[in-house]
Amino acid sequence: MSSDSLFSPDLISSEVAAALPEGYTIRPLRKGDYHAGFLDVLAVLTTVGDVSEQDFNQRFEEMQASGALGRGTGGYHILVILNGNNKIVGTGALIVEKKFLGQVGHIEDIAVAKDQQGKKLGLRIIQALDHVAEKVGTILDCSEANEGFYVKCGFKRAGLEMAHYY
Ligand code: ACO
Repeated sequence: MSSDSLFSPDLISSEVAAALPEGYTIRPLRKGDYHAGFLDVLAVLTTVGDVSEQDFNQRFEEMQASGALGRGTGGYHILVILNGNNKIVGTGALIVEKKFLGQVGHIEDIAVAKDQQGKKLGLRIIQALDHVAEKVGTILDCSEANEGFYVKCGFKRAGLEMAHYY
């Protein structure tokens, strides 16, 4: 694996890659993606604030060290979709949590740039994360407004989310 990639590019589904619009590509997050618009895309999801390149690199290394070595292993799998100009236009994360009784995949931070929404990029991100999570199973929290999107991606409502903020 290139040490620049957060996880092995071999885990990216070739079917999903082939289904992207012409010129678009999908791959694991790389360290240099600080300069490719990664944080700009996350801004459709949340307030990003001031994240320096040093902050970004440090967090990248921490996530990489947590060891996403192959399908079914724990760790952080953040992927990105790029347009024909190598600009990041979508991202999504799968964090595989190891438990004493099995493992579970958490889907987090799904974001598609505003001007790229409606092109099935969100669906492709979920399909690609599902491919990485094969046999693990995935769960996620989302707003009511996004329920329809996740239903279209094959999820169904289950359980109740609770929070304890400090
Ligand atoms: N409600 C109902 N259906 C939806 C919604 C929605 N909010 N969004 C998309 N869909 C439908 C589409 O119409 C499409 O249906 P079709 O197959 O019948 O044509 C299908 O879902 C797939 O849509 P995509 O084109 O893949 O969706 P898109 O690329 O626009 O991405 C996303 C959807 C990720 C929700 C995007 O709108 C976005 O980035 N929103 C802002 C950030 C956000 O809210 N992210 C999710 C946070 S929750 C989490 O991260 C676990």
